[in-house]
Amino acid sequence: AVQYGVREKDHLIDYDQARSLAKEHRPKILFCGATAYPRIIDFQAFRSIADEVGAILVADIAHISGLVAAGAHPSPVGIADVVTSTTHKTFRGPRGGMIMCKKAHRKAINKAVFPGLQGGPHNQTTAAIAVAAREAATPEFKAYAYKIVENAKALAEELNARGFQLVTGGTDNHLMIIDLTNKGVPGKVAAKALDRAGLVVNSNTVPFDPRTPFDPSGIRIGTPAVTSRGMGTQEMRRVGAWIEIVVAHHEDEATLQRVAAEVKEMCSQFPAPGLPIG
Ligand SMILES: Cc1ncc(COP(=O)(O)O)c(C=O)c1O
Repeated sequence: AVQYGVREKDHLIDYDQARSLAKEHRPKILFCGATAYPRIIDFQAFRSIADEVGAILVADIAHISGLVAAGAHPSPVGIADVVTSTTHKTFRGPRGGMIMCKKAHRKAINKAVFPGLQGGPHNQTTAAIAVAAREAATPEFKAYAYKIVENAKALAEELNARGFQLVTGGTDNHLMIIDLTNKGVPGKVAAKALDRAGLVVNSNTVPFDPRTPFDPSGIRIGTPAVTSRGMGTQEMRRVGAWIEIVVAHHEDEATLQRVAAEVKEMCSQFPAPGLPIG
């Protein structure tokens, strides 16, 4: 596979590079979609590149499918030939997958799924995905998706104000990537300290990362789970303040425990839906 990337100057997807690589290599399939991209993806731009080289366009919207279903991110449906998604990220369903495609590809995909790749049918998961899809079609879910983005923007703003360097400067979706180089703390060290303080993030590479994927420069944070608990922009500001304290004092166990107690106290005011408090 040939990979395109992001621009060095602003870390946005390099559509020009994608076009020139596509023209050079003439791929049969062009993939778009991301696992750690905080901005809107221009599916139409990828469509025109795919058309220029006669490629099938596949959009993997695993991360953003809940936002797409709610209209909080543009949809690739009707633009891409094939759309794939997991069902357990912003879609907020059980672990699983979905493939949507234009009729021309139906036979090939069905055959590849079964008998090609899949074993027995997991009907209980399929039923749960149907429930998630029904939920995703409700006005409540639409409000939830927009709130995820609002919360992510509030957290990004707070972190920016506290001197954190966000990849692309902020976010348009549910996640942000923080480059911790200027804080002098590797991503893995920060993620472990944050975990001890009750704040769950993952270490993540940043564009053109001089460190390795196993010991990267950044962390990745998302707002879907806290938004499900009913937290809003005020709580995101507190989270931003905690992140600053924990990163600055990542070796100070007493500070981590103090923040953990505050996090627990705030979470107790926003219980996870369906679970008893305690
Ligand atoms: C863009 C994208 N596609 C697919 C997947 C696969 O998800 P999973 O391994 O959780 O099924 C991920 C996981 O992070 C992803 O980010």
